[in-house]
Amino acid sequence: MAKDAGRQIEQLRKEIRRHDHLYYVLNRPEISDRRYDALFAELAELERANPELVTPDSPTQRVAGQPLEGFTTVRHAVPMLSMDNTYSAEELRAFDERVRRQLDGGTYDYVVELKIDGLAISLRYEEGILVAGATRGDGESGDDVTANIRTIKAIPLVLLGNGGIPAVLEVRGEVYMPTSSFVELNRLREEAGEPCFANPRNAAAGSLKLLEARITASRNLSFFAYSTGQLSAPLGVDHYETLERFRKLGLPVNPHIKKARDIDEVIDICVDWDHNRHDLDYQIDGMVIKVNRFDQRDILGATGRAPRWCISYKFAAEQAETVVESIDVQVGKSGILTPVANLRPVLLAGTTVKRASLHNFDEVRRLDVREGDTVVIEKAGEIIPQVVEVKKEQRQTRAAPFKLPSRCPNCGGPVKRDEEGVYIRCLNSACSGQLKERLKYFAGRGQMDIEHLGPALIEQLIETGLVKGFADLYRLRKEQLAGLDRMAEKSASNVIEAIQESKRRPLWRLIAALGIRHIGGQSAQILAEHFGSLEAIGAATQQELAGVDQIGPTMAESVYQYFHEPDTTAVIEELLKAGVSPEQLKTRRSDKLAGMTFVVTGTLENFSRQQAEQAIRQAGAKPSSSVSRKTDFVLAGDNPGSKLEKALKLGVKVIDEQEFVKMLGN
Ligand code: IVH
Repeated sequence: MAKDAGRQIEQLRKEIRRHDHLYYVLNRPEISDRRYDALFAELAELERANPELVTPDSPTQRVAGQPLEGFTTVRHAVPMLSMDNTYSAEELRAFDERVRRQLDGGTYDYVVELKIDGLAISLRYEEGILVAGATRGDGESGDDVTANIRTIKAIPLVLLGNGGIPAVLEVRGEVYMPTSSFVELNRLREEAGEPCFANPRNAAAGSLKLLEARITASRNLSFFAYSTGQLSAPLGVDHYETLERFRKLGLPVNPHIKKARDIDEVIDICVDWDHNRHDLDYQIDGMVIKVNRFDQRDILGATGRAPRWCISYKFAAEQAETVVESIDVQVGKSGILTPVANLRPVLLAGTTVKRASLHNFDEVRRLDVREGDTVVIEKAGEIIPQVVEVKKEQRQTRAAPFKLPSRCPNCGGPVKRDEEGVYIRCLNSACSGQLKERLKYFAGRGQMDIEHLGPALIEQLIETGLVKGFADLYRLRKEQLAGLDRMAEKSASNVIEAIQESKRRPLWRLIAALGIRHIGGQSAQILAEHFGSLEAIGAATQQELAGVDQIGPTMAESVYQYFHEPDTTAVIEELLKAGVSPEQLKTRRSDKLAGMTFVVTGTLENFSRQQAEQAIRQAGAKPSSSVSRKTDFVLAGDNPGSKLEKALKLGVKVIDEQEFVKMLGN
């Protein structure tokens, strides 16, 4: 049986790796997502039943179990140098002159690549297996981000090909976030009241430097390989050949890389990309030009910080001048006031820009931007328009400095500055502006997902006084909607039906919909699974919340505070009274086995590994993956393997499934 399972598992892994490569590297999937999920589920199930066969290179093992305490620093075997920059065709020609002189009349060609705007990393493969990943850091040493790197699906955990893979192969390249994923991530962050990333590079860097690999895994990072570090055997005689070998090994290489015979061809390619760069779904900030042959690179050598055989050509950031027609202050769902500049419409990098966020009042003061000012705007990472400069010399003398709001522009209620003095918040919890944003979020796709209840309708519902809180939605009747704009009878029934349907959404959706600061969909799921009900979350102490796997201290504090605000109990009671009854995934947590540590090994009859660990958590105990003297119980099923041996050696108490069920007492 185990032998059979072993073969089956290997087969499935091979199949899944092939599809990962087709999908993430070649952009050429051969099977549907559904079929892929089925293969993955089959593998996961087989591995659950045969835990001794799980190896770190399995596609199921991309996400590490435990968050890290911090990153360790690792020294690069070969330093990661930086690059000199050029900004014009003349400078490129000067670079070419230097190369020609030093190569002393020899013929040479270039490879021209896109300069991906992400962050450089180094991957280490030993015998074809990914063993480490590190950031560039200062070039000499960087952070060990292996756990996070492993979650990036474009990065193979095992290289493809039979034989011929160098025993040590360090691959260098750029981790980046596709523009579309960046836009979506910021949309979700904005909805959740979390600060947005300024551009995809910051988002990629922030996502790679998280201590929780599970969150990195959700960020849709990707990767392009562009050079090697330490190597036990060369992959080719030149750079272009090396990149082709990369492709054969299953590594993603950018498809737009080109050879150029001379500097004129290089310049043509650079100029083309300066125009076409907006067609890509990732950001590039220039081009990289590299001498192709390795023997010629050796002749050229390097200065202290950068090689002489390559240079970057940086695009100028696209800017436009326009006029600030007015400055609005918007109120967000947690009451934070955000200044926004309304601009005279102007074309910038392919889109018409009418508004630019001024971020916060500190920024307004720093720029000293005033209504009527002529300003220079730039797209940060070419996406979010930002005011980068105020043309003060063109200012009308009449323009007054922007006055900080002393009252909420929406409800006229009192406002307060936070301790750092950056944010101003409306303190009126009944502010209709805040309420609108809270309701839009509540009904949003990632939360209660109420179809037909869009922003315009929500605004009307609040303005007409039909809705004053979440629970009012569930009391709406069709006739009440009839009088609203663009509301035919059929649409009214659709809205009511959709609202009613949302009453039985899973618990995590309701938790997410409450709009607790720092709690997005993922942490809501963890809370729902762990506690099983809103009451249980509300009853938890801050320490208990922080003790939950993947819930950090900031989240714990925020959840605790939310449930101890005077209004919260009423909001929740009202919702339950109005008939909202979230589907409860797990039974209520008990503390029968509080403080104990369990290790599960072997196959159980009535529980999968995950279910057993879930039951352990729900009883207040902690599941662990390795046996030590601190382990209280080892729960052993069939074919338990080395963990049982270790338990017996250390004298740890071993229990079987029957005993386990008895201890749980349910
Ligand atoms: S080659 C000796 N190729 O640009 C430097 N770098 O400004 C070898 N980058 O730190 C790097 N795209 O993060 C190379 N196609 C590409 C690149 C690229 C982006 C980044 C890389 C490097 C930075 C230098």
